[in-house]
Amino acid sequence: MRVALMGPPGVGKGTQAARLTAALGVPHVSTGDILREAIRTATPLGRKAKGFVEGGKLVPDELIGELIAERLGRPDAGRGFVLDGFPRTVEQVGILDRVLGRLGVALDRVIILFAPESEIVRRLGGRRVCPRCNEVFHIESRPPKSAGVCDKCGSALAQRPDDSEDVIRERLAVYGEQTLPVAAAYRERGLLVEIEGTGSPDEVFGRLEAEVVKA
Ligand code: AP5
Repeated sequence: MRVALMGPPGVGKGTQAARLTAALGVPHVSTGDILREAIRTATPLGRKAKGFVEGGKLVPDELIGELIAERLGRPDAGRGFVLDGFPRTVEQVGILDRVLGRLGVALDRVIILFAPESEIVRRLGGRRVCPRCNEVFHIESRPPKSAGVCDKCGSALAQRPDDSEDVIRERLAVYGEQTLPVAAAYRERGLLVEIEGTGSPDEVFGRLEAEVVKA
């Protein structure tokens, strides 16, 4: 199964992609996670991407194209994948078409999660992440067992640099201008499935499962 998961910042793409990949037995391909790891380890990609990611702007399409061609060409992606946060521009839709065309495969579904802006701001404002193992928490809806400490690896939790109020506003604006047209493109192709992202993570996954896993 080849699925792309899209939706505004903080709607729960990463949370749901982790569950969906476990249910489908395919890799989770998050361009955001790949970029943050490249920034953390100061690779050439990370050095080029840092200013864009931390300012809430999109990283240039050609950098994302190289990254995604390399990732989807790896053997584990041969059995399928869940794309999280890609494609994010109309240009990236074309990039994905070309990469999948070379591999001789196609997307099965594009899922868009939606939620009111007030809920998105609440989710992003309370998010805490583990800088070492990438586990994601929320101070209200998914608090760690011990405040400020990762349940999985014991590291100190942090806020993402792009989860400040002004950068959240910028990311939401960029989503409306550059990413919503991607949903329209997939709707025209008959691939888009819209899923309500409110309610608990289990409730949201129940809706996703009905559309993707049990369909
Ligand atoms: P990326 O990492 O993709 O960020 P994003 O799209 O802004 O999404 P987030 O990771 O912020 O949120 P999410 O939807 O995954 O929500 P989560 O599950 O964590 O990209 C970051 C940056 O990288 C971009 O701004 C850009 O610069 C660059 N980039 C990435 N891809 C790119 C591309 N293709 N092209 C160009 N640039 C690119 O949940 C959020 C919080 O809510 C968590 O605390 C979670 O615990 C909580 N939560 C989740 N679900 C629920 C629920 N149902 N109820 C209550 N709380 C919940």
